[in-house]
Amino acid sequence: MAIAETKRVEEMNYFELLAWLGIGSSHPGGFPATQQNLNALQVNSEEYVLDAGCGSGLTACHLAKTIGCKIIGVDINPQMVEKACLRAEKEGVAHLVEFRVADAYNLPFTDNHFDLVIAESITVFLDKVKVYQEFYRVLKPEGRVADLEMVLLTELPANLRTQMEACFGSGTNPLSPEEWLDALTQAGFEDVVFKNPQRMKNNGNVIVNELKKDWVLVKGLADKAAYLPSLVTRLQKNAGFMKKNRSYFGYGLACGRKPTPVPPPEKVGFKDWVLQVFRRN
Ligand SMILES: C[S@@+](CC[C@H](N)C(=O)[O-])C[C@H]1O[C@@H](n2cnc3c(N)ncnc32)[C@H](O)[C@@H]1O
Repeated sequence: MAIAETKRVEEMNYFELLAWLGIGSSHPGGFPATQQNLNALQVNSEEYVLDAGCGSGLTACHLAKTIGCKIIGVDINPQMVEKACLRAEKEGVAHLVEFRVADAYNLPFTDNHFDLVIAESITVFLDKVKVYQEFYRVLKPEGRVADLEMVLLTELPANLRTQMEACFGSGTNPLSPEEWLDALTQAGFEDVVFKNPQRMKNNGNVIVNELKKDWVLVKGLADKAAYLPSLVTRLQKNAGFMKKNRSYFGYGLACGRKPTPVPPPEKVGFKDWVLQVFRRN
């Protein structure tokens, strides 16, 4: 309860609240959307994967368990990383998954490191092109990026944008599917495509049922709710905003591929150039 000892629920920003709760699937569509996307991506066990903004590590541990690939998850929030490490230990995948505190804008990896970068509900809060450029840098040529994010289906009136930012933090900025793909293209990605587009559904129960299975979240949840009754009000406010305004929102998987660099033209010395010209004629 580290944060709650010093901060009241109302004072926590959205990320602090998620970290304190240890929510494993805090993205649109919840864990069912993750499963659907992973099916579409066909990850193989040889691929080296980065989960940027991994939260408490549910997706990374699931991938390790089901595919057996090696994964690094990074998150800027140390409390999330602590919970993710605990999850990996408990679920017996610590030999495949590593979690680190790191900023997605400045990843602690060399260029051309990963085969696949996945992200779920993190770039919506960040500068899209800047973060995609960093994903591009750490991907190997032909490496893939797949980012599950909220989309805006129609322009959001100013008053609703203010309410959205009050719920999820200032700077929360969902884009249209075309704008998500444009951000990937601006960062250098090719073959950009928006997979599994969905309207925001009223499937709160499905998501709640999935959340109930997540022991990292559920551990101590009743105590937390009793200790801080404002928690329930705060969660209801966020869920209520989405429920009421869901016709504006959807979500989907923005995907792209890092192209193979085109080799620079060979430098030809003067003598070789003269010989080439003579040979051509
Ligand atoms: C909405 S949560 C999603 C977490 C996880 N991907 C999931 O789907 O459950 C957003 C996460 O992004 C992390 N985050 C925000 N800004 C970040 C940054 N600049 N670098 C790395 N992680 C960041 C937050 O700490 C939080 O855990």
